[in-house]
Amino acid sequence: MRRAVCPGSFARSPSAIVVARASALSDEVVVAVGVNRQDGCSAPRRLDMLRRTTTASPNVTVAGFSGLLTDFCRAEGVTAIVKGLRAVGGFDYELQMAQMNAHLAPGVEGRVRAYPCSARSCPPRAVKEVAAYGGDVSAHLPGFVHARLLARLAERA
Ligand code: PNS
Repeated sequence: MRRAVCPGSFARSPSAIVVARASALSDEVVVAVGVNRQDGCSAPRRLDMLRRTTTASPNVTVAGFSGLLTDFCRAEGVTAIVKGLRAVGGFDYELQMAQMNAHLAPGVEGRVRAYPCSARSCPPRAVKEVAAYGGDVSAHLPGFVHARLLARLAERA
């Protein structure tokens, strides 16, 4: 049984193409929401968003984790970490994380893949700002997340 993880803090939804590729390469994929110490993200809303985004993929589950990703991999029997690159600027960061993870857990394979960008690659801050000024950001978010954002903006108006 090959089990892969797509980890992230997921300030935005994961690239569907990364999860789809991980799902094709493995028997099971865990989309794992970690608490990134720098952004201190609140996991419950993100877990809910991710579960709703991945319901169509039967071999994909969503879980939260805290602590080291490599400890999560060991505990969950994960043998591959799959991450996507949205922009070239992220390469150094991803490479350093992959190297550290390889050091911490030599048996866990790290894959960093560059996939063609989609409209959903825009930074969340830009998407929220455009939406706040009434711009159409529907191509940048899953439908239910877009609806939730519009409802929140309407509440504040
Ligand atoms: O790409 P992201 O969204 O910033 O990734 C965040 C996350 C949670 C995957 C990453 O920060 C992580 O793996 N955190 C757990 C702590 C850890 O294992 N750190 C060592 C990686 S070098």
